[in-house]
Amino acid sequence: MNSQWYGIVLLGGPGSGKGTQAVLLASTLNIPHISTGDLFRSNLKQGTPLGILAKSYMDRGELVPDEVTVGMVRERLNQPDCARGFILDGFPRNVAQAKALDAVLAETGKAISSVPYLHVSDAVLLERLSNRWTCRACGAVFNKVTPPPREGCKKEKCDGELYRRPDDEPETQKNRIRVYEKQTAPLIIFYAKRGLINEISGEQPVEHVQLDMLRAVNLGMQDASSRGKATPAAADEAC
Ligand code: AP5
Ligand code: MG
Repeated sequence: MNSQWYGIVLLGGPGSGKGTQAVLLASTLNIPHISTGDLFRSNLKQGTPLGILAKSYMDRGELVPDEVTVGMVRERLNQPDCARGFILDGFPRNVAQAKALDAVLAETGKAISSVPYLHVSDAVLLERLSNRWTCRACGAVFNKVTPPPREGCKKEKCDGELYRRPDDEPETQKNRIRVYEKQTAPLIIFYAKRGLINEISGEQPVEHVQLDMLRAVNLGMQDASSRGKATPAAADEAC
């Protein structure tokens, strides 16, 4: 069994395909896919105070406050299934969260090993968000190219109801892209300064993006072993 540790951060705008790619990568590498957006949505479904708080930000396309988000991620990363690594989708989303993540990993002597960055133009992002359906039961995502069956999900015998995410409404979509440009895009430089970024065109077919992604994370591992692990101190210098 592969004992390699993977600390993967997936970067990319709203609708760039982070979730689609993370599911495939998680299955190939046998490590968990951790999406902060999905964690908030699941909390909301269960009616927890965290979910209700998060909804007020998500509905506007704004970021949920860092202290709430970082606490939730810290708890998730401490679960036993993260022992061999994880794929973070949607976290970190600003430099403060990236530094907090470094500190959490440093507690166990770990560091991020690779950061695939999915590049997709704003026009394509908007088109994708306007044509996305998600299954309420299994979370499967459908689009214009692979439209959902009329009668519901049907992925691996699932018969969940399909819905459109409330934050996929036109005004919220645009604000999410603005928030991404202002707060999240600076992370491309943050991680590039550590040699961790691999830019991938997210406008290719899903399978081609996945191949690039696998190359990126495995090359990242080789680079990390020859370069030594990044440290939070190095990240501070980078900023
Ligand atoms: P989150 O759920 O993370 O949303 P997001 O980043 O806006 O990204 P999406 O999930 O919309 O898109 P995706 O990149 O996963 O694309 P997907 O694979 O679905 O966050 C939602 C909200 O939660 C935030 O706005 C914020 O309020 C809050 N939040 C979350 N994390 C936070 C944090 N760390 N701090 C603070 N707040 C936080 O694909 C999109 C569509 O395109 C699908 O239909 C798919 O089928 C299709 N598609 C995918 N790949 C391809 C391809 N190669 N070709 C054609 N179509 C494709
Ligand atoms: Mg997603």
